[in-house]
Parts: sequence; structure tokens; C-alpha cells
Amino acid sequence: MKILVTGMCGYIGSHTAVELLEKGYEVIGLDNFSNSKKEVLEKIKKITNKAFKFYEGDMIDRNILETIFKENDIKAVIDFAAYKSVGESVQKPLEYYINNVSSVLNLLSVMKENDIKTIVFSSSATVYGNPEEVPIKETSKIGGTTNPYGTSKLFVEKILEDLYKSDDTWNICILRYFNPIGAHKSGLIGEEPNGIPANLVPYIAKVAKGKLKSLNVFGNDYDTKDGTGVRDYIHVVDLAVGHVKAIEKLEKDKKGLHIYNLGTGTGYSVLEIIKTFEKVNNIKVPYNIVERRSGDIDSCYSDPEKAKKELNFKAKYTLEDMLKDAWNYEKNN
Ligand code: WQD
Repeated sequence: MKILVTGMCGYIGSHTAVELLEKGYEVIGLDNFSNSKKEVLEKIKKITNKAFKFYEGDMIDRNILETIFKENDIKAVIDFAAYKSVGESVQKPLEYYINNVSSVLNLLSVMKENDIKTIVFSSSATVYGNPEEVPIKETSKIGGTTNPYGTSKLFVEKILEDLYKSDDTWNICILRYFNPIGAHKSGLIGEEPNGIPANLVPYIAKVAKGKLKSLNVFGNDYDTKDGTGVRDYIHVVDLAVGHVKAIEKLEKDKKGLHIYNLGTGTGYSVLEIIKTFEKVNNIKVPYNIVERRSGDIDSCYSDPEKAKKELNFKAKYTLEDMLKDAWNYEKNN
């Protein structure tokens, strides 16, 4: 089955492309390299030894999408293409809504024109805002997002719901990621944000490598086990496997609208992440406690039961695996 993977050269897109190719799917990639690198294509080929088609382009341009659907017998789409920095989204709301929402509108209308209605959409736990309860279930309240990045994901989820209400032959799976970290065991692909990393684990890896002086821990006065923020970290390869499971479900069901949390169900604090990274990699990570980062929340971790029951998905990598693989990637690149 031919699957269009938008944002294929990105962190999660590239890991998912590897899993799809290794499972025997045919992959057609699309990326505009706004937050990824062209050499990722070679690395995907090296890891999988499989061929795939690739188009350079931006989903803002309908023509590229029309060309791809005209030239390929696409049966499903996995849509990763989006900007994803919380902090940057506060500074550049327009760019985020144009890129993260308008491009999906283009994609959905070209899919409709071609009568292709199977899509897996990359959403985020940020749509829960500051959760009323943890662990978070898919039925937990959404909204109250604290930044345009999270709001853009919320908007697209609403668009997909309205689309399905208007035509229940759509076949949609919304995946809400918690905190993806780590890298493929080969060390060839991993998290490569442009500039200084906003996220915790890539920042720690750069401090360990000596590229950054020390880590700022954003606050230790949260209502958590040690006062620092608690999050549900999931290995990016587990996350990629979750996408294959979602495609398998859509292939079977043929129509429907499904929403799943993709997390481990376990929350770790910032200090636990630092200590575990130091232990498994036998390296020191200097840090200072500083004031809170605006928009951050105390605790966010998932109840992963629904994905386990309906997708037969369960994260298998441990926190030690995640942090070992994150360091292995940093050392190799
Ligand atoms: C984790 C914890 C920080 C950096 C965001 C998005 C989410 C997803 C992942 C896209 C928090 C603390 C961080 C640092 C720190 N993005 N921290 N020093 O904010 O939970 O989630 O990124 O898919 O949608 O919302 O991730 O890694 O930025 O922060 O102390 O230099 O680490 O306060 O407690 P976050 P994060």
C-alpha cells in the first residue's frame, strides 16, 4: 500500500518512514526542509536498504499535492508536516496557523478530490492544556491551550471531526503524542532541531557534548515529587511503531474517527531525567535551577490503555533506552 508521509525528513516522520518501509509499505515522502535536512533521505535508505519516492515541496502549495496524487496511487496519508516549537509559536502565531492549519486544509481538499479519505494526523498532548487530572485519558477535557502551536493542533482536530461528521466514509486517526525523545539505535537519525533546542532532552545531549555550557532547569516549585516538571517521555521508535499500528487499524476498519494518546503512562521529573541520563551514559550534566518557563505545567502523563486495547500498541523502550539512544545520536552527529 502506497502511503504519503508529509514532513518525512523530520524527527518523527523519518523514524516512522523507517518502520513503514521495514513493514513492507511503499512510502512517498514530502518535505520542504524548513526544519529538517535533505541528508536524512540517504540515512533512511541506509537503515532500511529500501527505495522510496520523495518530493521536495510545501503543502501550502496545492499544486505539489495535486502532482503527487496524480503521479502516485496513494491510499493513505500520515501528516507530520508542522512547526512544533511552543516558544516560537508565541512569537510567530501567524506563521504557525498558516503552516499548521492552512496546509492541512490543502491536504484534506486534495485528498477529497482524489477520493482518498484515510489519514493519520500528528497531534499533541498540548491540546489538553493544563490537564484537570493525570493520568490523561482521551476523554479528558481539551482546550485551554497555552500557545499557538497547541491551538493549531486543536484547530485541526476540530476540522477533522467536522469533516467526519459531514461524511462518515472518512477514515481518520488522531494521535496525541506526549514527549517523544531518543533516536534510532543506528545513531543515523534523531532529533535535530534548528538552533538551540527548546526541548529538555536534546538540550541535555548538547550540554553533555560540550556544545552548551549547562542546563537551565525551569523551576523547582511545581506541585510534583521533586518540584520539577513531570512529563511522559516516549521513545521515538515506539511512537513510530504506533503510527504503523494506526495505519493497520485504518486498513482494517475502512472508516471511522479514532483518537489515541501515545505515551508510556509513566511520568518522570526533570531531575530524574538528568540523573538517569548521567547514570546510563556515565557523563555529568551541569545544571542550574532558574525561574519557571511561561506556559509550562506541573504534570502531564498519559493513560495509554485505549491504544493498547484498540491498536494493540504498548511502548516497549525504557527511559534508560531512550536516554542512551539520545546520547548515541548526539555522539554520532
Ligand atoms: C519538558 C520539561 C520543562 C527545557 C513540548 C510541547 C509538546 C512536544 C514536546 C512537539 C518541562 C523542562 C525543558 C529546558 C527545562 N512538542 N525543561 N529546561 O514543554 O513538555 O512539551 O515539547 O511535539 O507538544 O508542548 O517539552 O522538553 O520543552 O519540557 O527545565 O531547557 O523539561 O519545564 O518541565 P514540553 P520540553
